[in-house]
Amino acid sequence: MQPSGDGPFALRWVPEVHFGAGRARAIAGDAAAVGQARRPVVLVVDPALVELGAARPLVAALEQAGARVAMFSDIVGEPKQRQLESAAAFVRSHDAGLVICLGGGSAMDVGKIAASTAMTGESPAAFAMDGRPLPGRGVATICIPTTAGTGSELSSTNIFTNEAGRKVWIWDPLTKPDRVILDPELTLTLPPQLTAWTGLDALAHALESCTNRHAHAGNDLYAHKALSLIAGALETAVREPQSITARGHMLLGSAYAGIAIDNCSAGLAHNVSHALAALGPVHHGFATGLALEIVLGWQVAADQGRFAAAAEACGVGRDGRALVAWYTELLTRCGVERRLPEAFKAVRAADLAAEMRSPETRPMRLSSVREVSDADIDRFAEAVVALA
Ligand SMILES: [Fe+2]
Repeated sequence: MQPSGDGPFALRWVPEVHFGAGRARAIAGDAAAVGQARRPVVLVVDPALVELGAARPLVAALEQAGARVAMFSDIVGEPKQRQLESAAAFVRSHDAGLVICLGGGSAMDVGKIAASTAMTGESPAAFAMDGRPLPGRGVATICIPTTAGTGSELSSTNIFTNEAGRKVWIWDPLTKPDRVILDPELTLTLPPQLTAWTGLDALAHALESCTNRHAHAGNDLYAHKALSLIAGALETAVREPQSITARGHMLLGSAYAGIAIDNCSAGLAHNVSHALAALGPVHHGFATGLALEIVLGWQVAADQGRFAAAAEACGVGRDGRALVAWYTELLTRCGVERRLPEAFKAVRAADLAAEMRSPETRPMRLSSVREVSDADIDRFAEAVVALA
C-alpha cells in the first residue's frame, strides 16, 4: 500500500529550539527560563566531552549565574539499564530542578530518561516497551546535542539495553526536553569517521520517515528539508571538519530528521541495525548506514513516488534509482568502510534473521511499504553478515 500524500495527518509537538553558532554560551539564561532556580542543575554529559574540557564553559556559565551544578558522566557506550538507574538515582538524590543533557544520542537518552523517571522512584525499565505510561512530566530538561545524528533531542524515543541484553525503548512525548539548543560550534571537534556515521543515521531517519507506510505530507516538510540539508553538507563536514556552515546544516538536518522520525518512525534499515546491535557491539549510525545500502535498491524497485520525491530532496533528480547510486557513492566519498567489527565474524545469517523477526525490531519491518517476507529477511541477513 502506498501512503497517500493528501490524507489526514497529525504532527506531534516540537520543543522550543534555539539555533546558532556560540548559542550554548547563553546557557544560564536557558536554565533560568526552564529550570527551578533554587534547586541544583544536573549535567548529564558524555565522559569524552568532560575529558576534552567541553563541559567546562557550560558549568562555568551556570555557576557564574549562581547555579549549583552536579555532573553525571558514568556513560559507557550506548545506554544500559544500570546506567539509567544510576542516572535517575543521581538526579533524585541531588533534588535537581533541571537536567541538562550534553553529548550524542547516548548522553541525551540517559539524561532524558533519568529526568523523566527520577521522581517515580522506579527503574526506567518499568516504563519500557509495553510497560506503564509515565505518570507526567519529569524534571525540566534541556538537550544540547554535540553530534549531528540521532535527533534524540527532538524525539519521543529513548533507547537502551535492558538487563536481559535486549535493545528496548521508552516511547513517550513526555520525555521530550523543554528546550533544545543547537550550537554547531560544539560539533566542530567530532572526528571524520564519527561525523560520517552519525550523519548517515540522520540521513536514514529523514529518508525512512518519508518513504515508509506512515509517511504523510505534513511530515515531508521536515524530512525533505532534512534530506536536502544533509545531502548538501555531509561530505563537506567529513572532509572539512571546521566548516561551521556544513556543521550547522548537519545539526539542523539531524534535528529536522529527529522531528520526522518522531512523527513517522523509521524503517527497514533500522530493523537491520537494531538486530545487529542485539548480536554485538556496533556503532548505530555505521550499522544503519550499511544496512540502508543493502535494502535501498530493493525498496526503490517498488517505489510509487515517495523515493523519487526523496531523491529530488537530495538534489539528484526525481528518480529513485539515481538515489540508490548517489547513496552508494556518498558512502564511498565519506570514507565509510563496508566492514563489520571482528565480533560479527561469528554471527550466522540465521542469527541475524531471527533478530530481524524479533518483537523489538518488528515495527521497523512492518513500516516498510514493500512487504518484507521471511525470504527477504533471510536474503538481507546473508548480505549483511557477508560484511563481517
Ligand atoms: Fe537511528
